[in-house]
Formats: sequence, C-alpha cells, structure tokens
Amino acid sequence: MSKIKNYIESNKERFIEELFELLRIPSISAKSEFDNDVRKAAQLLKTHFLNLGLDNCEICETEGHPIVYAEKIIDESFPTILIYGHYDVQPVDPIELWDQDPFDPYIKKTKIHAEGAIFARGACDDKGQMFMHLKALEIILKNDTLPCNVKLMIEGEEEVGSDNLELFVKNNKKKLSNDIILVSDTGMISKTIPSITTGLRGLSYLEVEITGPNRDLHSGHYGGTVANPINVLSKMINSLHDENKKITIPGFYDNVIEMSEDDRTKLNSSPFDINEFKESIGLQKEDGEIGFSTIERQSIRPALDVNGIWGGYTGEGAKTVLPSKAHAKISMRLVPGQDWKRINKLFTDHIKDIAPNTVKVKVTEHHGGQPYVAPTDTIGFKAASKAYQDVFNLEPIPTRDGGSIPIIALFEQELKSKTILMGFGLDSDAIHSPNEHYGVSNFLNGIETITKFHYYFKDLFND
Ligand code: BES
Ligand code: MN
Ligand code: MN
Repeated sequence: MSKIKNYIESNKERFIEELFELLRIPSISAKSEFDNDVRKAAQLLKTHFLNLGLDNCEICETEGHPIVYAEKIIDESFPTILIYGHYDVQPVDPIELWDQDPFDPYIKKTKIHAEGAIFARGACDDKGQMFMHLKALEIILKNDTLPCNVKLMIEGEEEVGSDNLELFVKNNKKKLSNDIILVSDTGMISKTIPSITTGLRGLSYLEVEITGPNRDLHSGHYGGTVANPINVLSKMINSLHDENKKITIPGFYDNVIEMSEDDRTKLNSSPFDINEFKESIGLQKEDGEIGFSTIERQSIRPALDVNGIWGGYTGEGAKTVLPSKAHAKISMRLVPGQDWKRINKLFTDHIKDIAPNTVKVKVTEHHGGQPYVAPTDTIGFKAASKAYQDVFNLEPIPTRDGGSIPIIALFEQELKSKTILMGFGLDSDAIHSPNEHYGVSNFLNGIETITKFHYYFKDLFND
C-alpha cells in the first residue's frame, strides 16, 4: 500500500472526528443570530492551519464574516496553488424534516454510501470537501515536503454571495497570486465514476413585489372589483416561459454561446440514467426546454425558477382576504455569454413592462455572478486527471455543473488564473436540503486524490 493510502488508513478516525468538531459549529452565514458561531468556525480553521505549521495564518476581517488565510511558500520558483473553499453553511429549515440534529454529526449507511455517510449541515457543502484539503496538506507535511507552494483562502460568505471576498480579492491581488486555484465545492458523476467540473452556471437573483390596494381587503366586499396582486403575479410568472419552455424575456438568449454539436454529443454520452434521476427525487416525468436533454438543461442551458412566493393568508383555516401585496423570489441560472448584470436589467424592464396598470411593481436585486468555463488542455486538468486515475482507476470525465460559485469567474478576472474544480459530492448528498450528507469514502478518496494532485501539478509544471 502506498504511503499516502497508509497514512489515510491509520488516521481516518481522527480525520472524521476533526471534521465532526467543525460540523458541530452552526456557521449559518445568512442569519445574524449565528454570527458568533460563524466566527468560531473561522477560529477553529485558524487553529488547524497553525497546527499544520502553515505561515501567516490570519483571520482577515471584512464588513461581514471573516476570511481565513494561511500559506506555505517553500520556494519562490515553485508553482503556487491557491486553495479556496467556504466554511459557512446554508440555513437548516425545514428543521422538522431532518432525522437528527443538523449540527450533531453522525455516520449512517445509505443505499449509495454502503460504507457510511456523514450526516450534518455542511457535511458536503462545503466543510467536508474543504477539510479534505487540510488533511491532504497534513499528509504531505508529515511525510514529506510540499511539492508546490500553497495559499489557503477559506471564506464565510459563499452561501450569501461572497460580496466581501470580492473586495478582498481585488485588494490583495499580489498576496493571492498563484498558478492555479483548486476548489472542492462541486460534485462527481457517481461514487465510482470520477469527473472534473469544467463549467458552472452564473446566477441572477431578484425579488418582485406587486402592490394592489393599500391594505388587505375583504375578499367578499371587494372581490371582483380590484386586481388581486397574487393573481396578477401568478399570471406574470406564468408568462415568463413559452409553450416550448423557453424564457420569454426579450434579449435573454441574445449572447448565449451555443455548444458545438460535437461537444453536445460528448456531453450527452456521459453516464446519466434518466430513470435513476427521476426515481431519486420521486418524479413521474422530467420537464424543461424542448430540444435539449436533461443533462443539457441542467448545465449548458439557462433556467428561470421561482424560489419562493408568498402573500395573503397562509395560516390555518380560511381567512377571506384580498391581499394588498404579493412577492416572489426568482433566480435565473446563466450560461457562458450571459452577463448577470445585463440579465438583471432585462428582467426588471420586462417585469415592469408586462405588469398591468392596475398594480405597482418593485424589483429588488440580490447577489449574482457570472458563469464559468474551464479548458481541459491545461496542466491543471492533466494533473487532476492523473490523480483521479490513480485513485479511481478511471479517467475522469469533464462535466458541466448547474450550480454556481460566483467568485470563480471573479478569480479569473482579477487574478488571471484558472480554477480546477475537483468536487467529490454526489447529487444525492442533499446539499441545501434536510439530511445533507457526505460519503465517508468520498471524503477519504478525495483526500487521496487531492494529495496526489499536488505532486502531479509540480511534475507537469516543470515539464
Ligand atoms: N457548492 C455550491 C455550488 C455547487 C453545488 C456547484 C453543486 C455545483 C454543484 C455553492 O455552495 C452554492 O450553493 N452556490 C449557490 C450560489 C450562491 C451565490 C448562494 C447556488 O448555486 O445556488
Ligand atoms: Mn458550496
Ligand atoms: Mn451551497
């Protein structure tokens, strides 16, 4: 058995226990009542960095949650890897759908993870995945010297849009200079089929408020005489897709870069079982833009979805009311060519345009981000590919993910370097959902793959 495998085998219980300690901290970035816990998670990370013997370990304050930074520069002439991840997590609601406390991690076997999976909020997104990098560095530092210089930047605001990290990156370009950025915050095709994410969708997120009368009205006394904001909003939302499930906002598709037929064929040949897809989420039939497969709809085509809608009376029983207001939170997933700020404007103009003159419309913009694509002919991709082959005995398949990590496109813009997305999560790991989990073997294989990446990257860099 190799030295790396050996080290993992004899230290895995401790690795998991250390991850549990991090998972016990409810570092929910979106809710200010957890601000102290978010900071505690940052402090724990700093302690890990110090224990690893990294240099310049610091908690960098921002207007919001802190960024934890550390580095180990072995030799200025060596290549430098910047590792990015996030220690903040999503809120846990609906809490009643969790089998156990989301911040009291435990291991349970599942159909897919026969060896067991770690259940907790953040187990996969992203504490468990980010923590693999710390353990990979531990393996190298305890047994050897680092083949590459490393810089680590772990933030606490990814789940709320990374606004402060954006500023930090713009102000610290020299400190963050690197030859490649390495991130584990995405998924792989299946437990045994490795893949490297070569694209992420961008994001545009807005909120719409429709106001009718200046107060809630009796729906008997007034019903039929005034426009009901919920009826109006529903109709407007319905009109945002046509009968082919295309988005109807004028100009929406103008700059979309269509994938070549060749690349589409390749994308569609990657292993994907539509029945498994449906079964895993309890669905009778899939749906989406006519003319595209589910894989394509999920990755290379834009999407518009209502994430939440509310107004009027939603409590127990029936209260007759004609509401004054209706609200909806709407996200759009964007693909290469689309600019989120332009899409925000198109959306806002269109919503105002289609609203009847019986109501008032207010649109508020939330965070957004640009889509990202990575080439596969880089030494970063090749190094990752070799590392995966060693661990999984298969060549990783390039895939495009539907989710967004807005900061990745910004890294490219500001730091002029490409990111390699080595994610080890599975679609079934329920990130952002109740009972989020992360396979123990995904965690351990991830540590091994990442460790190997450091060596292969150095080798290929020197060639
Ligand atoms: N790690 C996810 C993104 C992700 C997950 C990409 C799986 C690919 C596969 C990240 O933490 C996330 O949740 N991003 C948000 C956007 C963010 C601005 C809140 C998303 O995609 O909704
Ligand atoms: Mn994440
Ligand atoms: Mn997330």
